[in-house]
Order: sequence, then C-alpha cells, then structure tokens
Amino acid sequence: MEKLFSSLEDEGSFLVVENKEGAINVMTIGWAQVGIVWGRRIMSVFIRPSRYTHSLIERAEYFSVCVPPKGKMRRELSFCGSRSARDLNKVKECGFVLENGCRKGIKFIKGSALVYECRIVSRSRIFKEETDKGIKRDYYPGNDYHSVYYGEIINIKEGNP
Ligand SMILES: Cc1cc2nc3c(=O)[nH]c(=O)nc-3n(C[C@H](O)[C@H](O)[C@H](O)COP(=O)(O)O)c2cc1C
Repeated sequence: MEKLFSSLEDEGSFLVVENKEGAINVMTIGWAQVGIVWGRRIMSVFIRPSRYTHSLIERAEYFSVCVPPKGKMRRELSFCGSRSARDLNKVKECGFVLENGCRKGIKFIKGSALVYECRIVSRSRIFKEETDKGIKRDYYPGNDYHSVYYGEIINIKEGNP
C-alpha cells in the first residue's frame, strides 16, 4: 500500500482501461482510495468526464492501477497525464508492453512495481450541490465533476510483473 500512496502523492500511477469493444487507454491518476466497502477490498478511482478514459471506463468491466518503480517512468507519467488518447496512441508513444491480467478485459503495464487488478462493482458521481465551497472553487471551476468507479481488487501483482 505504501508504494501506491507514495506514487499517488508523487508523480502518479497509471490507470489502464480496456472497454468491452477492446479499445485500450492509459491515463495518469493521482487520486485513488483503498478500503473495505460491501465487505470487499475496494479501489476507487476518480475520473473527470472530460477525459477520453471516461468514455472507455463507462463501457468497461475492469481496470488496473499500475504503480511504477520508485522514481521511474516519470516521462511516461507526465505524458499520459497531459496528452489525450483522442489525439494519439499513448500505449504506442510510450512503448508500453501490455500484459493480460487475471481476467479477459484486464491489461497491465509490464515492468510495473505493483499492479492492482480491479472489477468495477459500482459507480457514482461527485455532486456539485453536495460539495464544499472551497473544493468547488479549487477543483471544479470548469464544472468537470468527477465520476467515481469502485473496483473490487481481485488480484495484486508485485515486483516488476
Ligand atoms: C500527476 C497527475 C495526476 C492526475 N490524476 C488524475 C485523476 O485522478 N483523475 C483525472 O480525471 N485526471 C487526472 N489527471 C489528468 C489526466 O491524466 C489527463 O487529463 C490525461 O491527459 C487524460 O487522458 P485521456 O484524455 O487520454 O483520458 C492527472 C494528471 C497528472 C499529471
């Protein structure tokens, strides 16, 4: 868990999504929550509707969160956190090798230090009218309120899988 938290606090981790039509994208994330909900181990990720990834995850059953080795893949984190798959193929541009996870529909980045493979069990939204004024001012000036995806952690791979 420490590796996940320190990567999120630092330059981020990779979210890998494959939708039901087989389209795949990698996006950098800095926000995620891990905890017990519904008696299950859950990883929640927060995705703004403006992201191309949002359109994919809306039609996905799974996602993976790939934590890079400490201090590595900085260029790729910055690239996948600033460029959109609407304009280019980030997997190709970054030279990522994607491996198959434990279920069809899960892909992860080869060489990650840690991989969380997750099955989406619920979705929700951050509602403007329920959100603190300061948070609205600081994080949502464009009204791009996050969608939240709750993934049951079904497999964890450690050590440069
Ligand atoms: C360090 C870092 C963390 C980020 N975290 C998130 C996040 O948690 N949720 C989100 O919606 N966007 C986040 N972003 C922004 C997206 O990664 C960025 O908009 C990306 O280009 C979207 O790609 P896409 O259009 O191909 O989906 C983050 C960017 C960086 C650099």
